[in-house]
Amino acid sequence: MSGPRFDAAWAAVRDVEGWMTEGQGRRLFDAARRLSPGDRIVEIGSFHGRSAIVLAHGAPRDVDLVAIDPHLGSDRGPQEIAARPELGAADAEAFRANLERAGVAARVRHVRERSQDALGAVDGPVNLLYVDGAHRFGPARDDLVRWGARVPLGGRMLVHDSFSSVGVTLALALVTVAGARWRYEGRDGSLAEFERIDLAAGARARNAARQLAQLPWFARNLVVKALIVARLRPLARVLGHRQGPWPY
Ligand SMILES: C[S@@+](CC[C@H](N)C(=O)[O-])C[C@H]1O[C@@H](n2cnc3c(N)ncnc32)[C@H](O)[C@@H]1O
Repeated sequence: MSGPRFDAAWAAVRDVEGWMTEGQGRRLFDAARRLSPGDRIVEIGSFHGRSAIVLAHGAPRDVDLVAIDPHLGSDRGPQEIAARPELGAADAEAFRANLERAGVAARVRHVRERSQDALGAVDGPVNLLYVDGAHRFGPARDDLVRWGARVPLGGRMLVHDSFSSVGVTLALALVTVAGARWRYEGRDGSLAEFERIDLAAGARARNAARQLAQLPWFARNLVVKALIVARLRPLARVLGHRQGPWPY
């Protein structure tokens, strides 16, 4: 098949630190590849560039790609909530260097602000929104509501740590489960995909039910995390958690 190849994108991020699995990378890549010239991608939460590089590889040439991350060293990853400016500065440098090394630095505009402060830094619709910033309920809800409002009908939103992080899952319950604007398209691990659509009443109930069906997996992830924190990793393995430090 012609066009960009996922293998090349995945090879480019093999040594880039981050939490996105290969299956999730492929889902992001495919969502970017389906865009048209002139479309726009906004990524919230870039860390060292793993997902931004995959998006840049997948997107057609004339797609505008904006990566929003304040790199304050706060809400950095699992159990890393408080700001640590020296870590944030190192993250920003790693992000820049990784994009250079992958040959995509010129394709990505980095907005070094918190997503809630960055709405004015991006003009026009957002055809693909990738949400992977602060995972606490308030900021996650704001990302889904305020940035989600920028996605036109037919656009897509992908959300990392869905049905895994408590804050992100509560925000989804409010916005995509209870709401009528986002049709659930499935997930790869914790990477859930939604299409912006206006749902009629029956479809809305089915959409909510499909998402509520992910709750057993959410409960399993909470138990796995509790076991890891309690240093009972062998028991987490019994629940099927064999890869990586934390369920994604
Ligand atoms: C889980 S990491 C993102 C991982 C990244 N998507 C990847 O593929 O490796 C979360 C990132 O969100 C950033 N962040 C924290 N608060 C934010 C906010 N309010 N707006 C945007 N990004 C934020 C952190 O600096 C951190 O780099």
